[in-house]
Amino acid sequence: MQEKPTVRPPQRQRPLSALRCLSAALLVAAAFGAAADPLAPTARWSAYTAGRAGTPPMGWSSWNAFGTDIDEAKILGSARRIVDSGLAASGYRYINIDDGWALRRRQPDGRLVIRPDRFPSTAGGSTFRPFTDKLHAMGLKAGIYSDLGRNTCSQAYSGGDADLPQGTVLEREVGLYGHIDQDIALYFGDWGFDFIKVDGCGLRAYGADSPKVRTGAYRALAPVLDLQSVSRSDIPAVQAEFAEINRALQRSNPDGDYLLSLCVWGAADVRAWGKNFGNISRTSDDITPSWARMLTNFDSAVRRELYAHPGSWNDPDMLYIGKGDFDAGHLVEARSHFALWAMLNAPLMIGADLRTMAQPLMDIVGNTDIIALNQDAAGNQATLAYDADDLQILVKPLASGQKAVAIFNRGLAPIAADLTAAQLKLRQNAPVTLTDLWSREKTTFTGETKVMVAPRETRIFRVDGARLLADGVYLSEQPGNVNPAVDGVVWPQADPSIFRSSAGWTGTKGAGERPMYSGWGGARADSTPYGQVLQVAGKPYSAGLGVLANSRLEVRNQGYRKFTVQAGVDDSAQARQQAVTFMIYGDGKLLAQSRAVRWNEPVQAMNVDVTGVKLLELVARSASAPGGQLPVVWGEAALLSPVRPD
Ligand code: GLA
Repeated sequence: MQEKPTVRPPQRQRPLSALRCLSAALLVAAAFGAAADPLAPTARWSAYTAGRAGTPPMGWSSWNAFGTDIDEAKILGSARRIVDSGLAASGYRYINIDDGWALRRRQPDGRLVIRPDRFPSTAGGSTFRPFTDKLHAMGLKAGIYSDLGRNTCSQAYSGGDADLPQGTVLEREVGLYGHIDQDIALYFGDWGFDFIKVDGCGLRAYGADSPKVRTGAYRALAPVLDLQSVSRSDIPAVQAEFAEINRALQRSNPDGDYLLSLCVWGAADVRAWGKNFGNISRTSDDITPSWARMLTNFDSAVRRELYAHPGSWNDPDMLYIGKGDFDAGHLVEARSHFALWAMLNAPLMIGADLRTMAQPLMDIVGNTDIIALNQDAAGNQATLAYDADDLQILVKPLASGQKAVAIFNRGLAPIAADLTAAQLKLRQNAPVTLTDLWSREKTTFTGETKVMVAPRETRIFRVDGARLLADGVYLSEQPGNVNPAVDGVVWPQADPSIFRSSAGWTGTKGAGERPMYSGWGGARADSTPYGQVLQVAGKPYSAGLGVLANSRLEVRNQGYRKFTVQAGVDDSAQARQQAVTFMIYGDGKLLAQSRAVRWNEPVQAMNVDVTGVKLLELVARSASAPGGQLPVVWGEAALLSPVRPD
């Protein structure tokens, strides 16, 4: 069994034991000058690039519209509308069947059988090939659903049995557990699917004490995923299964045309490591058609800008445009939802019954200017230029050198927002032109302007102006090229900045939504890991990368000749006595090293020739107790002097 190089287990593979690993590595390195050092340069980009997700996937999924009550007519009807309406031509290609398609696992050979009454083209439930052939003939791609465990989410949580697999306990085990090679070969080899969503309830909801296991309906499988508590999740066990799924995907897709969707809802610290195991990775529990829940899901991805890149995107869940707070009576909210997902580089998966979707909603998901932002080749997730509980400004640098900006009013009062050239990292004294991506109106300002933002509205613009760095780019302006291979977090902690909505699955029963998505303290663009303005020895930095010490950032260099940075310990550090050394590597070779610096000492300026270097690695090393709060600043980190073709 050969593992594809891009699917290598990452440094951050075992966060719960990382403290021990890191301490051990540092001790061993100190004593013997030996290897096994997680901060040692590798000269390779370690985030996921296998599969086909150079830009975020776009398409449609059956779940939000139909749940498990699916059939061929509903799915093909939505596929037909995608083509006929022009949405397919705008990029919506994947037609994904979610939970509810499986009838049983045939015994004793273990082959899966499809519900024949719901999918008449499947020759009595034996093959999806005629169905995927139809989609392919329409120019579309086909997606299927499975689970990490023996059983799926609907088997655990649905009230009735009508749409659930039938037969004996073994026959109802339709998940991947114990059948990875067989099922992946069936889905991708025999049936011709192009996409798989792998859900996680089978590793979460079937403990010996769970109601359906107690009644004997399902076999017990000790839970290794716990959404409420990262400490009770077995992260290596979850990663090991995704690694095995990856090996099977490589075998069954020699042409590499597949897409792997991880669905463990932000549990098990996946917001930190999903980027190493699949093309898209869910950052939160399920979205519902409620404004408050949309905020939760948005928040779960919006501060993870450095954890998304071409090939490995954050997934705040499917679009809920068409229902509840995002239906045809709520066009402001529906537009916001769409604009925000586009700025996050989220997958754009329509979740409505397209056969009946009202034209104004079709026009929203069909806005080609906004789709273009999401599909921009540079692959930069927007970063937060302004962040408050009621108003946020997101900026997304584009491959063309232009930018996009979204001004998002989260609340119920209108806001006259100030938008400044500085927030856009554009020159104060040069004109800035905004093109409104809904009305297409243009306005020009110099320095700053006011933008009126109605309750729950998102104003979204393409921006032309003179960049602050005429001859280069700040690293925080290109998060798609920065990968926190080791982000210094060793004790995963719940992220308190995510909105805790009452609109989740359990309503308001129980004790309420508590902070639960770990990832707090992760690497950030233009912010410390804990959300403060970057600042060293009293000097604030509006541009830079913030990360904890004992970290290694991989940076792709696309043809620049110089790298400059001012590195230091952030003023917010609590481990004030600890010294940090900053190292810059180019394709694995040490190019520069700072002296050791402590809290409140001046920044170390480093200027390095990176001509011809493909991958920079920025290492901040300290002897501090791992887990100590030691945020460091790669201030004004920038790549300059591009090689220009003459
Ligand atoms: C989980 C997933 C959803 C959906 C359902 C299907 O809740 O998060 O997106 O796939 O399972 O049962």
